[in-house]
Amino acid sequence: MEVTGLTYAYPGAAGGRPVIEDLSFSVRPGEFVCVVGPSGCGKTTLLRLLAGLLRPDAGEIRVDGTVVNGPPEDLGFVFQDHARALLPWRTAAKNVEFGLEAAGVPRRLRGPMVQDVLRRVHLPDVERLYPGQMSGGMQQRLQIARALVARPSILLMDEPFAALDALTRFALEDGLLEVWHELAPTVLFVTHDLDEAIYLADRVVVLRRNPANVVREVPVALERPRDQGRSRAQDEFVRLRFELFETIRSL
Ligand SMILES: Nc1ncnc2c1ncn2[C@@H]1O[C@H](COP(=O)(O)OP(=O)(O)OP(=O)(O)O)[C@@H](O)[C@H]1O
Ligand SMILES: [Mg+2]
Repeated sequence: MEVTGLTYAYPGAAGGRPVIEDLSFSVRPGEFVCVVGPSGCGKTTLLRLLAGLLRPDAGEIRVDGTVVNGPPEDLGFVFQDHARALLPWRTAAKNVEFGLEAAGVPRRLRGPMVQDVLRRVHLPDVERLYPGQMSGGMQQRLQIARALVARPSILLMDEPFAALDALTRFALEDGLLEVWHELAPTVLFVTHDLDEAIYLADRVVVLRRNPANVVREVPVALERPRDQGRSRAQDEFVRLRFELFETIRSL
């Protein structure tokens, strides 16, 4: 994924001021990149542009060399607000199947694919439950399952674990890394949490605000597979956290 000179202003913004101006970065196939930056700097806007849900005012986004003009078929999106992202009138399995319907997968192939992805996010035996009958962490897994079920080559995730308690969050981070190791999608993951960014990423991209722009890209050289206890206790982890914290504090 190649982003060049990306500029975007919301229609009617005061003075036509862009939220994002002349932003460039690239992500290698299969890379796990985390994006951090102050609240309101334009992270969600950036993901919407990358997903083809908003059209840039200037600059371009290329995926495998092709300019993105609308929502690419081969893309999964996990939204910031899982409660609003799921369809409350469909069961868990039917919510996941929705991702396959959208991708045009024939009906007879869908069942096994739904079962497989629910197992991967550690949500077996929930086919008959409705989202309203599930805990917040379960709903978030369900949203991730729906994003993954069509095996997208690009996965965009917008603070997917922000509202969860630490233990659920650790479990979901590890579940995501497991799926990533297995299916090897390119991941762009937005988070407020510097520790989470370091734990997950191959590289952390730091954005500043007014307008959003890349101020720093920090490679994470921690070995994989990572371990919640051991990785976070390493000197390198502590050094990276300090570096990122100082960068963000200076913005
Ligand atoms: N639909 C919209 N119309 C007009 N302005 C918007 C719209 N959505 C967001 N903005 C503005 O664009 C800026 C960036 O918003 P965005 O949601 O992308 O930030 P963010 O970095 O995702 O913030 P957070 O970390 O709080 O989720 C903010 O100033 C916000 O007020
Ligand atoms: Mg946001």
